[in-house]
Amino acid sequence: MLIAGNWKMHLTLDAATALAAAVADAVAPLHAHEAGVAVALCAPFPFLHAVAQAVAGSGVTVGAQDVSAHAEGAYTGETSAAMLVSVGCTYAIVGHSERRQYHGESDTLVADKAAAALANGLTPIVCVGETLDERRAEQVEAVVGRQLDAAARRLGDDLARAVIAYEPVWAIGTGETATPEQAQAVHAFLRYRLAEALGTGAADAVPLLYGGSMKPINAAELLAQPDVDGGLVGGASLDASSFAALIAAAVATSA
Ligand code: PGA
Repeated sequence: MLIAGNWKMHLTLDAATALAAAVADAVAPLHAHEAGVAVALCAPFPFLHAVAQAVAGSGVTVGAQDVSAHAEGAYTGETSAAMLVSVGCTYAIVGHSERRQYHGESDTLVADKAAAALANGLTPIVCVGETLDERRAEQVEAVVGRQLDAAARRLGDDLARAVIAYEPVWAIGTGETATPEQAQAVHAFLRYRLAEALGTGAADAVPLLYGGSMKPINAAELLAQPDVDGGLVGGASLDASSFAALIAAAVATSA
């Protein structure tokens, strides 16, 4: 299981390092690692190095919220996977719906970013998810299937080394969570598509995270679903005690 916090564009350096240290302290007594629950903090770029230092030795890992599709070169404003590894990152979120929506990121670009991450030893957390209109139009499987297939085509067998996050756009930051049944239905579909690409054994080993208004109060029943292997947590990750409560729910579920 993996519980990843997505801090989005919040905090300042002092607040970010304080939050990271508070999370490391709050998570320590939960023995999450021993329970098979990995914890990651996806911080804004300028804070990554300091956050990695703040959690060093605690078992909490660090991720970026995006990564360049390019390895190196004249790409002003971009951050490469090798740079992220060099400041202590383990993960990079790619294809978050806010990047797809506000920055016009295509399925192909997202797949290229995932490939760049993997080529440099960074685990991509590849986000997929439908909008409310797409759900109403019964396009959920078509949309998330298309998004996953783009990554599968680009990555081939390396898809087995990625993490996939299902984040219904209508549930992100809205307080409206997918029901455990809704989440499980989409996760089961993603697992089936992964099995088509990778075979059943490898597909079963790919962590499938749910994201979208996951909170301590709803985490246990979401994480109890057979194909939900963790969470990508926005709002509730900005408070150390609520994030720790969510991790406690994951530890309890995986026990
Ligand atoms: P939320 O965000 O938990 O605030 O809904 C989740 C995400 O966008 O990753």
